[in-house]
Amino acid sequence: MSFSGIASSLKDQLKDHLDLQSHPILVFGKDGQVGRSLQKLFKEFHLPVVFLGRSECDLASELAIIQTLNHYQPQIIINASAYTAVDLAQSDETTAHQINAKAVELMAKYVATISKGVLVHYSTDYVFDGLKESAYLEDDATNPLSVYGQSKLLGEQAIETAFAGVRNNTLDSVEGFVGPRYYILRTSWVYGDGKNFIRTMLSLANQKEELKVIQDQRGCPTSSDWLAQIALQLTFSNTPAGIYHTVVDGETSWHGLAVFAIEIARQAGEGILVKPENILPIPATDYPLPAPRPQNSRMNHQKLKEALAAMPFSAEYPHWEAQVEAYVVNYVTQKLKS
Ligand SMILES: NC(=O)c1ccc[n+]([C@@H]2O[C@H](COP(=O)([O-])OP(=O)(O)OC[C@H]3O[C@@H](n4cnc5c(N)ncnc54)[C@H](OP(=O)(O)O)[C@@H]3O)[C@@H](O)[C@H]2O)c1
Repeated sequence: MSFSGIASSLKDQLKDHLDLQSHPILVFGKDGQVGRSLQKLFKEFHLPVVFLGRSECDLASELAIIQTLNHYQPQIIINASAYTAVDLAQSDETTAHQINAKAVELMAKYVATISKGVLVHYSTDYVFDGLKESAYLEDDATNPLSVYGQSKLLGEQAIETAFAGVRNNTLDSVEGFVGPRYYILRTSWVYGDGKNFIRTMLSLANQKEELKVIQDQRGCPTSSDWLAQIALQLTFSNTPAGIYHTVVDGETSWHGLAVFAIEIARQAGEGILVKPENILPIPATDYPLPAPRPQNSRMNHQKLKEALAAMPFSAEYPHWEAQVEAYVVNYVTQKLKS
């Protein structure tokens, strides 16, 4: 089923779920890659939704967050915001923790007290150290290597604690209280409308005759449009709350992704300078960065696949190559037009 098919199925379910007229959906991080995808996606629905960026609510301010929540009284929050400057975070721990942990805790504590409340939050492969030989499962031990990874893990834990608190208090026994839910969507290597690895590679491929790209880190490139869809599908489903590894099928290295994306761009008419044989694989040790990255970012996503398959409007599960191809072709086409 196409996403427009999914969208109309979702619309039917909305009536049962929510009092959306008086409690709009709140989306934080509207100007980020996933935030922009959510804005695009919500255009297909006629739902009361409020998109917030830094100028509407600075997540570094606890007061601003509390005032925003009290003002809108949302039943559903989708948090696409984050402090994502992974290397900068190494020397700016306080801000990274404020945005990725404290702000998330406030959102979680708020939603956790609302009957039928839903919090969708994005997290990252960087909660793992990357030393596992196979793909990570949702309940594998975490061990972040960087400040960014630590702050994102604290955000996850704040959500789990807030919702566990609800289970332990009396709200569960209140008549009509069906219980709030949260979804922590751990994803990796995100690309969309914004600064990302694919766009950087395409830009360099236009300017340089030789590129060196890391080959010994593996993961899954993930489309922000798809991440937005998953958020919506889970929100309006009966899927159990929890952590979901939210990546598509397949895996590659940064080098594999660069070679693939550049080749698609070349075929789509982009003026690529670098020849395929001059995109050279290098080890991560040859490209040192302030924040260490996990070598293995592969995440087992069987749990999400099963959850989606159980929905009445499930679509075919995508592969990263098909999504990256569509993204690059669209990007090049738009660029050539302008
Ligand atoms: N990008 C990746 O490769 C990747 C990989 C794994 C997981 N993730 C996770 O996926 C989610 C979405 O990532 P993304 O790529 O869409 O991120 P992004 O493009 O960097 O967007 C993050 C947004 O958060 C906003 N933000 C940061 N600090 C803020 C503050 N103090 N107040 C209000 N807003 C603030 C930013 O606002 P400004 O626009 O004003 O700066 C930005 O629009 C995040 O949770 C991220 O951790 C991303």
